[in-house]
Amino acid sequence: MQTLTLTRPDDWHLHLRDGEALAAVLPDTARRFARAMVMPNLKPPVRTVAEAAAYRQRILAARPAGLAFEPLMTLYLTDHTSVEEVAKARRSGFVHAVKYYPAGATTNSDLGVSRIEKAYPAIEAMAAQDLPLLVHGEATDPAVDIFDREAVFIDRVLTPLLDRYPKLKLVLEHVTTRQGIDFVRAAGANVAATITAHHLLYNRNAMFKGGIRPHYYCLPVLKREQHRQALVDAAISGSPKFFLGTDSAPHARSAKECGSGCAGIYTAHAGIELYAEAFEAAAALDKLEGFASVFGAAFYGLARNPDTLTLVRAAWDVPADLDFGAGKLIPLRAGEAVNWKILES
Ligand code: NCD
Ligand code: ZN
Repeated sequence: MQTLTLTRPDDWHLHLRDGEALAAVLPDTARRFARAMVMPNLKPPVRTVAEAAAYRQRILAARPAGLAFEPLMTLYLTDHTSVEEVAKARRSGFVHAVKYYPAGATTNSDLGVSRIEKAYPAIEAMAAQDLPLLVHGEATDPAVDIFDREAVFIDRVLTPLLDRYPKLKLVLEHVTTRQGIDFVRAAGANVAATITAHHLLYNRNAMFKGGIRPHYYCLPVLKREQHRQALVDAAISGSPKFFLGTDSAPHARSAKECGSGCAGIYTAHAGIELYAEAFEAAAALDKLEGFASVFGAAFYGLARNPDTLTLVRAAWDVPADLDFGAGKLIPLRAGEAVNWKILES
């Protein structure tokens, strides 16, 4: 049987939610990944170091016994994030980045940044203190076509931002387009991107195959095939600028299957296995370890994990649904096969 042993991977972009939902989804991530960069878009969002400390404690308390998962915390950038809060975050030892959601861009982003200029003082402090800015890179101007939002955001916001703060450490989260990949490649070593498994495996046709499929809807939305190919090329290139971030984003079934369904795809149940599929399809399994286990830690100045995770090439069927507190969660590939599985120790 074919096996693949990797330095234990980390997930550099993850939504864990809170309360019952947190308890339901955390084991999936903790079985696979040593650490995850935990997104702050709770309701209300995690805006201060004190709130991040409390959220971190709730995550640690929900951790399954025997698993040494380490949550890496982020703050939610607003128009009012202070220079003092940035300094406090830098000193905290557990806040590793600040997340920039343009107001209105995605789930729980209404308290995000209305105009980037308002956040300049905080961003200037981040650039000076080497605290990374993680970006949801989509224009919110309703006149911009949804499939063009990433490219337009790069031109209107990211390029001017880096001209102003050339040393700023910046991650274009869940990059989805060729333009996004080109932007990251052309920038300095301080600019990187995470790539999700679903954007490597699917193009936008998946959302409409045989009817509208809400469980393939996320933001940024799946793009056309040429963009998927650009993401695969970047992921398997061996460039340390591209690393794993699942963007696993659980929503209850009822919140996705309705007249105005939430954006977000749940992938934590096969969080590394789906990447193995994508890398295998590109005949580049040898490039998975750098992408999943090495480049992200290096970007954030953290040590590599000391242990390993072994994957086996054996198909298994994903359950039709998963428990999610009072509701149900429909995972990616529900009722269908995934070709790799983890060897649990
Ligand atoms: C995320 C969520 O549900 O929190 N949704 C998504 O489609 N990715 C938010 C985000 O990362 O944009
Ligand atoms: Zn996300």
